[in-house]
Amino acid sequence: MAPDTVEPRLVVRGGQRLEGQVTVAGAKNSALKLMAASLLASGTCTLHNVPDIQDVHTMREVLEYLGAVVGFEQGTMTIDTTAVQSHVAPYDLVQRMRASIQIMGPLVARFGRARVAMPGGCNLGQRKIDIHLRGLAEMGGQVRSDHGFVEVTAEKLHAVDMFLDYPSVGATENLLMAGVMAEGTTTLENVAREPEIIDLCKFLVSMGADITGAGSSTIRINGVDKMHPTEHTVIGDRIEAGTFLIMGAVTGGDVEVNGISPHVLDLFLSKLRAVGVQVQENTRSIRAVGDPERHSAVDVATLPFPGFPTDLQAQMMVLLSVSKGVSVLTENVFENRFGFVDELVRLGADIRVDGNHAVINGGRALTGAIVRCTDLRAGAALVAAGLVAEGCTELRDVYHVDRGYERLEDKLRSLGADVERVTAPVSGVC
Ligand code: EPZ
Repeated sequence: MAPDTVEPRLVVRGGQRLEGQVTVAGAKNSALKLMAASLLASGTCTLHNVPDIQDVHTMREVLEYLGAVVGFEQGTMTIDTTAVQSHVAPYDLVQRMRASIQIMGPLVARFGRARVAMPGGCNLGQRKIDIHLRGLAEMGGQVRSDHGFVEVTAEKLHAVDMFLDYPSVGATENLLMAGVMAEGTTTLENVAREPEIIDLCKFLVSMGADITGAGSSTIRINGVDKMHPTEHTVIGDRIEAGTFLIMGAVTGGDVEVNGISPHVLDLFLSKLRAVGVQVQENTRSIRAVGDPERHSAVDVATLPFPGFPTDLQAQMMVLLSVSKGVSVLTENVFENRFGFVDELVRLGADIRVDGNHAVINGGRALTGAIVRCTDLRAGAALVAAGLVAEGCTELRDVYHVDRGYERLEDKLRSLGADVERVTAPVSGVC
């Protein structure tokens, strides 16, 4: 960062009890894939309830780089892919957002070619794409890499019966999109079952695809000749919903999140109840009432859906850090997703990491400090910690948070939080 420009920071002053209602935005981890899937047809797709977050703007840049014309205002996005003629995703865009890899399936399916810069390192772990590439190769794609790019070419993709080594969300999505116009019937087993997969399948079917089994471990795709543009509303963001429920609970507050169906957070909600948070489920909203005096330790292990979501692991660690007793939190999805523990310890948490286990000696009083966001969900978790810490917490590298949370400080202020975004030129704004 040049000295004369100061990075924005979030300043949180703890002690306020959150209370009220907040509506979640459209799901980041669906919207990005729907944008990529629009490449499968020539013409204009319209998406509603698209979140206004940095990753969506980055994916928009990727689509425009390919030649698409994208309009986006008030949550509605139009994507005209008529003029798409490139098949290359450059390093700078991929480095900014790994989800750029999701354009590979649709580009190979429609144009027979995709060339995507291999994403660099990531602070969650390796983030391999071997399952993506093995599937594309088994569908007839020629896969090669050179100069830091991975390229897949295919005259015409053909159907495949394939077991995924791991129910990878991204691999499931790329292979789904590759299969919709492949010759024959593709059967994918051991696929991801996340709600965002179901949303993508609904979108693809409305574009003319023939898909069954969405949300189960086996998806079948009968290849069609052509796909056509469509209109679709993105599902609510379950991770944003879970984040706000934890932010309310740790402050002993009463928060209701609207625009979300509880069934997408079943196991997460049962863990909140096990801690001692009162949870009320309605058709399109979830309400959580915290009582910190009652909150107690619970063991949590992250798993692919319907298991406990890895994207709520960091937020849950904050709640367990201030709940009485010893909890063990196990991260099974990413090999390095405890990067933010050191920051939480700076706020006074008592956590010991041993491999993919974090032993949390809870019931500690947190005190505010300067901390650094290490990734998107860790940043949100540190905001939650600041809400309950005594005094003032200053968060650096908030660009991570801006990748996936729309107007976070506005929504928190509407619930009574004392949080602001500052660009003061000196450190130590607290
Ligand atoms: C998606 O990432 C989400 N991102 C992640 O959310 C989420 O944490 C993850 O799914 C798991 O739910 C988007 O949807 C944009 P994976 P993805 O492929 O697709 C291994 C957030 O904060 N793997 O299911 O990259 C991989 O190394 C982000 O919103 C392979 O080994 O997740 C990882 O350990 C963070 N080979 C595990 O699977 C492969 O070919 C899970 O990865 C692919 C994945």
